[in-house]
Amino acid sequence: MDPDWQKIRANYPATENYTYFNTASCGLISTANLNCNQRYQNLLGQQGSVYRDTLFDEMQKVKTAVGGFIQTEPENIALIPNFSSGMNYIVPMLKSLGSVLLIENDYPSLTLPWQLHNYEVHWVPQNPPQASKDTINLDQIAETLRAKSIKILAISWVQYATGFTVAIKQLSNICKENNTLLVVDATQALGAIPIDLTDTPVDILMGSCYKWATAGFGNGILYIHPDVVAQFDTPVIGKGSTGLYDSVYQPEKMGLQARIFEVGHHNYGAFLVLSQTLNEINEMGIHNIYNRVLTLTQYFKERLPEQYTIISDYAPEQSTGIVAIKSRDSKIIEKLKQEKIIISARGEGLRISMHFYNTLEEVDHLLQVLS
Ligand SMILES: Cc1ncc(COP(=O)(O)O)c(C=O)c1O
Repeated sequence: MDPDWQKIRANYPATENYTYFNTASCGLISTANLNCNQRYQNLLGQQGSVYRDTLFDEMQKVKTAVGGFIQTEPENIALIPNFSSGMNYIVPMLKSLGSVLLIENDYPSLTLPWQLHNYEVHWVPQNPPQASKDTINLDQIAETLRAKSIKILAISWVQYATGFTVAIKQLSNICKENNTLLVVDATQALGAIPIDLTDTPVDILMGSCYKWATAGFGNGILYIHPDVVAQFDTPVIGKGSTGLYDSVYQPEKMGLQARIFEVGHHNYGAFLVLSQTLNEINEMGIHNIYNRVLTLTQYFKERLPEQYTIISDYAPEQSTGIVAIKSRDSKIIEKLKQEKIIISARGEGLRISMHFYNTLEEVDHLLQVLS
């Protein structure tokens, strides 16, 4: 049964202040999450280390919740501060592979670290010749991987600028066939798209959770396949990586897993919020959220006035909640601001992003201001 979206929307206070179409920038926080954060701060203030001592078990529970959310074991999950930190951990780790295939104009935190570490970098464009819109061509990826024997592919599941959503299952097969390690940035997918790693195996998947996962700042997740941990030397380590008071580095004894990346203490409150959010998402049902978001974006695209060009003119299976459009009206941003409609503006382009807390009435409001 479809959730009661109006009732759910009432849990997100910012929906009263704005017509908020900017989840691709920053997701809204629920009242329950605000309370969770407040409770954490209060307990820390009142109990200090007595409270902290309870949080180690809580973090284990968070990993179990994250594992359940993307269908993997908690041992394969590391809690990290944000996506960009995760990238800077794993890129030096994989250096012996030497080469990487990246997507032009993909998110900078996904593309820059390989260049810093002097990988042989190859690029695939997002706007192949003859294509009328920005897309990522999987045949071109397969061909390039094969022709140049590239050992790593790093790609965003959902492109931040256009919302183009890559077919991860197909990509996973392509990478397997070419013996290529697949590294996925899931920041624009987590909380918007069902993720099942048993069905779509990847080697490494990371994401920040403050957008579609609506979990606020300071909580990222890193999934790493145990074979990858076993194959490469640890690039980082700290007390948090092992949990042991053992000052001598003995990898065999330490039984290193994904946890190696948890070098120091966590922003515990941020992960308690993440856990609470995953409960909320599970209650709504990630498939219901996915369908809701597609309904909203489809409704918008079908009614967009002719003076705009839809950049994200994709088939439903290549879409999520992000719609990029081009406008020739230089005053449109000002008009939207006056109406308290929040979107992201980039040059001639407008990025509109819709999540489960948005409504068709809000889309109508946006369409009315645009026309
Ligand atoms: C694709 C993608 N990855 C990652 C991030 C954020 O990375 P971080 O949380 O490390 O700043 C964003 C933010 O816009 C993004 O769009």
